[in-house]
Amino acid sequence: MKITTKQTNVKKIKTNILVIGIFEDNKLLSPLAKELDQELDKVISDYLTKKQQFSGKFLETFFLPTYKQFGADNILAIGLGKVDDFDIFKLREVGAKIYSAVNSFQNNAHVSIDTIGLDKMLYPAFEYAKNITEAIILSSFSFNKYKNKKQESTVSTIELVSCGSNILPDLQEGVKIGSIYANSQNFARTLVTEPAEQATPTKIAKVAKSLAENNSNITCTIYNKTEIEKLKMTAFLAVGKGSNEEPRFIHLKYSPKNPRKKVALIGKGITFDSGGLDLKPPASMLNMKDDMSGCAIVLGVFNAITKLEPDVELHVLSALCENMPSGKSYKPGDILKAKNGLTIEVDNTDAEGRITLADALCYADELGVDEIIDIATLTGACVVALGNSISAVMGKNQENIDKIIKIGAQSGEFLWQLPVYDFMQDALKSDIADMKNTGSRYAGASNAAQFLSNFVNNPNWLHIDIAGTAFTEKPFKELSKGATGACTRTLITYILS
Ligand code: BES
Ligand code: MG
Ligand code: ZN
Repeated sequence: MKITTKQTNVKKIKTNILVIGIFEDNKLLSPLAKELDQELDKVISDYLTKKQQFSGKFLETFFLPTYKQFGADNILAIGLGKVDDFDIFKLREVGAKIYSAVNSFQNNAHVSIDTIGLDKMLYPAFEYAKNITEAIILSSFSFNKYKNKKQESTVSTIELVSCGSNILPDLQEGVKIGSIYANSQNFARTLVTEPAEQATPTKIAKVAKSLAENNSNITCTIYNKTEIEKLKMTAFLAVGKGSNEEPRFIHLKYSPKNPRKKVALIGKGITFDSGGLDLKPPASMLNMKDDMSGCAIVLGVFNAITKLEPDVELHVLSALCENMPSGKSYKPGDILKAKNGLTIEVDNTDAEGRITLADALCYADELGVDEIIDIATLTGACVVALGNSISAVMGKNQENIDKIIKIGAQSGEFLWQLPVYDFMQDALKSDIADMKNTGSRYAGASNAAQFLSNFVNNPNWLHIDIAGTAFTEKPFKELSKGATGACTRTLITYILS
């Protein structure tokens, strides 16, 4: 499916479906819809007023065949609700609704969408195009690879049309940027949806490597087991010991000419979390192929950044391994040594993510970057605290926390702060090592963050827990059931800021 832009008028239009938005309270038609109404002998106004078949209620849809009286075969009217309630987030929902309404309408459909909300000056043209593009691409996500009967999209082109030519450059830019954002998020969703048996550390490392092809500004280093040992990341290695899959550590670097800041982004990369010897019960293990969501998301963000080419140096890191029970597994009671020399007593082999992240954080710290951000499906406690639609953010720099929450809100992704205090270290006390890998059952997300703080000296460190948001059991806004790629858009904008 391609998304394009075009300046046009009703006389020139040629399309299978022309989509127009109509507000519930203020049925004043947009400039293009007005022309259309005249062309069709007031049939649109009649449906709205005399026949009252369409009220303009939010997300109400109404198909009207034109019997080829002019260049559009069909009109799809979509309700926008009350004009005072409408904003860029409502627009995103409208975008998703348009896609589901036109998909499977006819094969190879060419769809034209009239500007929505722009004549009412609800937001700038760039924001309009970026958001509707993102919503359409995100809602068109599907994963058909393993189905014999594939349900492919029937839409060939979606064109954002406008009567005037003055906003065309803004629309084009919005489509371009929105496509980069949404395709990067879908890239992450695809990688997470792939079964653990396929998305192994070795294969994900290959995907990372492919992101570095044909670009002299990008380098990709993949470390194998022996090399990881040499880097002294033996805590990370312990987690993967029980698995038949080899671990990998990935380091992607994007280096622009004169970077104004340097950022390291770390994604948790447990390709399957069985819990290890502290085995998870079946219901909790079910979606644990998603425990590499952090890794998939930072790869998606990296892909976007290399396309947007900002003057920001970006390092993307992930310690990839599988947490499995076997005769070779690491055990409760084992003492592990992290890259910075601190020792960890294994209290629970299911608290594995923080162990792999500990070494990745040490590695990031040594890069001497300005900021470090990790993103991880880290704790069930985070799901209890914030549910499936809000990610937790923690750290020790309040300004950065406030900034990412704000950027999230503007991106249509929700983040909320959970506390981290040094006194939480008490709960991690071990009798025979520097600390244990688990603290109290209460405030579990915060305890995990406190554990991580031992492995990073950079004061500008942020930790994002997406245990609840990486995977959704129910469709949520423009996201279908399954992997979400949570915080991809927020992180891209945060890095650009
Ligand atoms: N990968 C899980 C966290 C998780 C839970 C992700 C639910 C997605 C949904 C993590 O490795 C884990 O098992 N955490 C334990 C830690 C506990 C043993 C201290 C948990 O939260 O139960
Ligand atoms: Mg676990
Ligand atoms: Zn895990």
